[in-house]
Amino acid sequence: MKDTDAFEKMEHDGWTDPATAQGYADGFDLATKLVAKRLAEEVLAGPNVDVLDLCTGHGVVARELLERQANVTGLDFSPAMIALARQAAPGATFVQGDAMAMTFADNSFDAVTIGFGVPHFPDPEQGLREVARVLKPGGRIAFSIWRGKASKGAFGWLFDAIGRLGDPTVTLPPGPDAHLLADINIAEPMLVKTGFTGIKLSDVASQLWVQGPEALFSAFDEGAVRAAALLGAQSEERREAIRADLAARVWSEGTKVESGFLVPAPSVLLSAVKV
Ligand SMILES: C[S@@+](CC[C@H](N)C(=O)[O-])C[C@H]1O[C@@H](n2cnc3c(N)ncnc32)[C@H](O)[C@@H]1O
Repeated sequence: MKDTDAFEKMEHDGWTDPATAQGYADGFDLATKLVAKRLAEEVLAGPNVDVLDLCTGHGVVARELLERQANVTGLDFSPAMIALARQAAPGATFVQGDAMAMTFADNSFDAVTIGFGVPHFPDPEQGLREVARVLKPGGRIAFSIWRGKASKGAFGWLFDAIGRLGDPTVTLPPGPDAHLLADINIAEPMLVKTGFTGIKLSDVASQLWVQGPEALFSAFDEGAVRAAALLGAQSEERREAIRADLAARVWSEGTKVESGFLVPAPSVLLSAVKV
């Protein structure tokens, strides 16, 4: 029994729920599309490049890689996500599996992309070690992480609202901080230790699209796992207070567009080369 077993189960059960998979695809599509382009560029995806898209989710990165004519394999442990990915990127091959222990042979791929998947790993170092194992020497990794609690945007607002208005006794199964590797001082030594060089971090001004101010709460409540678990354990009164707080932020700091609101959701993109 590992310390992170309960965390691992929460993540697995959450993402395999078809409602969460669809909720994520609906709530986070714009932000993930913006970042998917950057991931594909960073690994130099193109014809005859074999790319593994880990934690492929609803296939947003796989589709971007295919548009660049790469050979794409997508891996995810959620059959519900793989079903969405097959619709989004019919030219890719999809495999159901665990990123922590993949069945691919050593040195199988030229590049690995991971769009917002690393925050869900029970052991990020083991995940990066697995990526290094399946990459060819000189192969490229690119992955994205949301900026967390201190950021000016959706995730910062969420944790701020939960901190002020949520029940302080609500806790989650222990697991790594979801925003850990957005800190280059933590990411760089971990990437070096797991077999990478040429490490770069760049900020991405990603944005979420929501139909209305109250929909930001719903995006987290219906399309996330850890955030949804934190919100789901609150009383109805506290949930309403958090919902209203987030809605006020969207009104004051979001950008009104014809179809709804754009909300800042800053993220970072990390890239490196296998030694
Ligand atoms: C936040 S979604 C990201 C989806 C997509 N890559 C994107 O850029 O939007 C995280 C995905 O990682 C998958 N996932 C999380 N942990 C995993 C693991 N250990 N092995 C395989 N897939 C995992 C989930 O099922 C989910 O589809």
